[in-house]
Amino acid sequence: FQSGVLAGQRVVITAGPTREPLDPVRYISNHSSGKMGYALARAAVEAGASVDLISGPVALSAPDRVKLHRIGTAQEMLEASLGLLHNCDIFIGCAAVADYRPADAAVQKIKKSADEVSLQLVKNPDVLARVAGHSPKPFSVGFAAETEKLREHALGKLERKGLNMIVANDVSDSRIGFNSENNAALLLWRDDAGVREREVEQCSKDVLAAVVIAQIASLKG
Ligand code: PMT
Repeated sequence: FQSGVLAGQRVVITAGPTREPLDPVRYISNHSSGKMGYALARAAVEAGASVDLISGPVALSAPDRVKLHRIGTAQEMLEASLGLLHNCDIFIGCAAVADYRPADAAVQKIKKSADEVSLQLVKNPDVLARVAGHSPKPFSVGFAAETEKLREHALGKLERKGLNMIVANDVSDSRIGFNSENNAALLLWRDDAGVREREVEQCSKDVLAAVVIAQIASLKG
């Protein structure tokens, strides 16, 4: 894309997994490596934006010229996101936020005793839906990680979360998606003519990030 297409824009990106503690030494999480979100942060900087990256625990170093905010839980990701909305033009939710967390995190390490234990989980806040419901609303972009019915499920998320665009990726294929170098995606958005889409075939996460940033710049105008 042309460098400078996001000059003067403030972009907030979420990346990586969240960790939901069970006790001081254990947690529930997922396989997100942060690679896709960090690639988006680099692409947004290349496009001239000023970028805040809210990241769950990952093994990546902070990209140059990006303000990195490290968080652990979904609740912390929500607080960091809301705290950056006062001058945010574009919000991209690429993080794999845990949908549920343990109802009560034990203060002390849980001891091994019974043969069977059950875990009670409660729903986490939806960071992206909260951001997209904020007034004024930043141009809000989500990702949809799907294992089936990619288009249908992603469209549901576009509508339900009130997004301007969604990037749907198939995470059942280990060559793309979680913790891989490459990805492929279907970009979906709505205009006066109805649902519009752009398919991006398998490519590096850097290339996909550049396509996503260029599409955002063109839709935002
Ligand atoms: O990190 P990598 O290893 O590079 O992998 C990249 C990726 C597969 C994680 C990424 O491309 C991706 O798909 N990210 C979204 C993962 C996800 O949680 O998708 P979802 O379909 O469950 O959620 C839909 C959207 O809502 C996402 O933008 C998500 O950030 C957001 N969400 C979900 C739940 C929640 N409680 N809060 C949210 O903000």
